[in-house]
Amino acid sequence: MQRPDELDYISRMLEMARANRRDDAPSITHAPVDAYISQERFEREVQTLFRRHPVVVAFSAQVRKPGDFVTSTDTGQPILVVRGKDMKLRAFLNVCRHRTATVETKPCGSNKRAFVCPYHGWSYDLTGKLVGITDGAWFGDIDRSAHGLKQLAVAEHCGLVWVVPTALQEGQSADIDLDAQLGPVKADLDSWDMSGWEVQSITPIRPRMNWKLVIDTFLELYHFRYLHGASVAPLFLDNITTYERRDRHSRFAVAKTTLLEIDKEPREKWRLLDHAVMLYNLFPHTVLAYTADHCGVFTSYPISPDEALINVTVLVDPAVRATKHEDYWKKNQDLILAALAEDFAVGASIQANFRSGANVVQTFGKFEKALGWYHKEIDDALSPGRPATN
Ligand code: FES
Ligand SMILES: [Fe+2]
Repeated sequence: MQRPDELDYISRMLEMARANRRDDAPSITHAPVDAYISQERFEREVQTLFRRHPVVVAFSAQVRKPGDFVTSTDTGQPILVVRGKDMKLRAFLNVCRHRTATVETKPCGSNKRAFVCPYHGWSYDLTGKLVGITDGAWFGDIDRSAHGLKQLAVAEHCGLVWVVPTALQEGQSADIDLDAQLGPVKADLDSWDMSGWEVQSITPIRPRMNWKLVIDTFLELYHFRYLHGASVAPLFLDNITTYERRDRHSRFAVAKTTLLEIDKEPREKWRLLDHAVMLYNLFPHTVLAYTADHCGVFTSYPISPDEALINVTVLVDPAVRATKHEDYWKKNQDLILAALAEDFAVGASIQANFRSGANVVQTFGKFEKALGWYHKEIDDALSPGRPATN
């Protein structure tokens, strides 16, 4: 985030807190309940957003050195991401071209020279090339060059690794245009540069909620006073949040109680993260939450219309990490997970109640406008005729 924006956010939130105002949209908005429960809609979302669109599947910290790799089935596709000897990051379908077994069965590892399929021992190098067929002299004629691992488009930026989870066709680029994908948010991510940050923890959770309902829980502060009274609410002012739509994404700062003391410091020393948490909703499934000493990365993946997987990841600058004891990070993680347990308990009740017939729409208040934006962007992406983003 650029310095003028940082000061502007602080000033706006101070003004809102003092005047007891909210950052309002002109009117309330809605999202249809059917969008959270329809099987047909769910399948379209998976096929469009989790097959044709770049999604976050890993972190640069997991694949820093040549031979480092990570596997993921979070999107529903079997994905292998590996750093080559040439330092290039590549991604593949983690599927053997012989008889379709999973090639790499470990979640991550390092110093890999080749991936060897556990079924009949076919081997692939770090570029996905088929380099070994066991009993090759007797197997029969096969064009090895046409039986490499199926490649996926991949990109990394600011510590996050995106993949488009559909196999590339002949001639398609393995790069993802992140300038187009991230739009105006890319400059923000640059400014928070997390490319050298480490993974402090990754916690997978399987809430009984639609994957979009999981994202909804992050997009407003309205519920904090009521739902998080015993966990994180005491740290924050009541619903003092700035919202900005940034292309398909949004960004917003949420004010902590210490903001009201900021006048004691000279303006040139004002730092947003000392008095607020800065959030980004990266379309379609990732929320970043920057605090003074870490970034929470929340990635939501669809399992079924009524169930999601969310990975709760804490990324930390190694220089900052070294200044604090492990207990500090454990407590930090516990606090995040306590708040999420509260969110996902009520979220499960919402998901269960969707079929009760009480509501045909979810209603978003004027200060819940980031939810309205989010669901509009999802709708637009699913609309026929909209060009694929990659
Ligand atoms: S399925 Fe991989 S070697 Fe046979
Ligand atoms: Fe919450």
